[in-house]
Amino acid sequence: MVITIGAEKGGVAKTRLATHIAALGASQGVDVVLLDTDKQGSAMSWGSIRNEEGVQPSIPVLSLPAKPAAEIANLAGKYSLVVVDIGAQNYRTMLECAQLSDLVLVPCGPDQQEIESTLNVFEALRALDPRHEKGRIPAHVVLTRVSTKENAKATLDLRAMFAEEGVPVCKSHIAQREAWRATGKTGRALHELKGSDRSLKAIDEMQALYDEVVSLANQE
Ligand SMILES: Nc1ncnc2c1ncn2[C@@H]1O[C@H](COP(=O)(O)OP(=O)(O)OP(=O)(O)O)[C@@H](O)[C@H]1O
Ligand SMILES: [Mg+2]
Repeated sequence: MVITIGAEKGGVAKTRLATHIAALGASQGVDVVLLDTDKQGSAMSWGSIRNEEGVQPSIPVLSLPAKPAAEIANLAGKYSLVVVDIGAQNYRTMLECAQLSDLVLVPCGPDQQEIESTLNVFEALRALDPRHEKGRIPAHVVLTRVSTKENAKATLDLRAMFAEEGVPVCKSHIAQREAWRATGKTGRALHELKGSDRSLKAIDEMQALYDEVVSLANQE
């Protein structure tokens, strides 16, 4: 199964989602590899710290060339779950990976620029539909950094707008919480943090999203 996480905009939580999907898969014993196609190498550095600190389960993180199709196809034959983290403004790579994916996730926060750029991404993905073996690129928006309030009007409005545009959105979403910041330089996922950095709400939200994403990728 190949899951690609991409967006046009920077800083929308692509790498956070990619590392967490990989870490939750690995924690359930899934044979997972995380691929970093971003020259910034954020997922690679998360993986190196994880490795240096001996965090278990260990997760292989590989850096991919700008045209990674052949390598992804090869790794998809070796691993049960291939998670691909795309860099910002790395449109071509995202579209190339999308064609090989069981699911593409596009993180989007409650920001007008992010929303517009997400709509552009879906337009570009739709243009590629005939090139996917299923005749349609299976893609969903993941709402990230939204209000912590349940049923917040801004979040409901965002969902309604994407529904009107015919853009699928995952039912689970990720709220803006301080705990996410702490996962960056630790080589750990939220559920692997200790002490005051730990946030059960953030852990539960990410677990619900993971379960939904795996089920979507299996349906596709
Ligand atoms: N749910 C959240 N709550 C609070 N902060 C968050 C959340 N998700 C991500 N962030 C913050 O947003 C920033 C960007 O996250 P991340 O590196 O995952 O984004 P990205 O899309 O991969 O960025 P880039 O385009 O640079 O690759 C980080 O500082 C992270 O702490
Ligand atoms: Mg990133």
